[in-house]
Amino acid sequence: MSGNITLTIIKPDAVANGHTGKIIDHIISAGYKVKAMKMIHMNDREAGGFYEVHKERPFFNDLVSFMTSGPCVPMVLEKDNAVADFRTLIGATNPADAAEGTIRNLYAKSIEANAIHGSDSDENALREAGYFFSELEMF
Ligand code: CMP
Repeated sequence: MSGNITLTIIKPDAVANGHTGKIIDHIISAGYKVKAMKMIHMNDREAGGFYEVHKERPFFNDLVSFMTSGPCVPMVLEKDNAVADFRTLIGATNPADAAEGTIRNLYAKSIEANAIHGSDSDENALREAGYFFSELEMF
């Protein structure tokens, strides 16, 4: 499975703004198969654990506050070259720099409320998929 999966989260801003359906359609239209999906509202421990690699960053507390501000939709996605192609599909972390037509260009408002997450490596994709989903929940 390594190399073929990525983990995404439709973030609280995009869910609150009613963009969940359009974003899922955008992802499926780009050739991804949904292997797992759910809606959850994370607490501080859950969001902090997900972003553990960023815990020394100055924006960590704000990031956790934002990610716990409402429900979000984590998904495991499958396609060849999943991680790299998904990062192209979503665009730059800061929506001001995101290419035309990318998900962040279309739906994100700021570097923090940036609509969607995508894993940055195959290794992290597997860790992140396992963080949200058990083997029984992946199809
Ligand atoms: P994401 O791809 O989910 O991974 C880490 C997140 O931290 C990133 O998206 C941004 O939402 C957030 N982030 C990264 N850099 C900054 C920053 N300079 N200020 C605030 N948030 C940031």
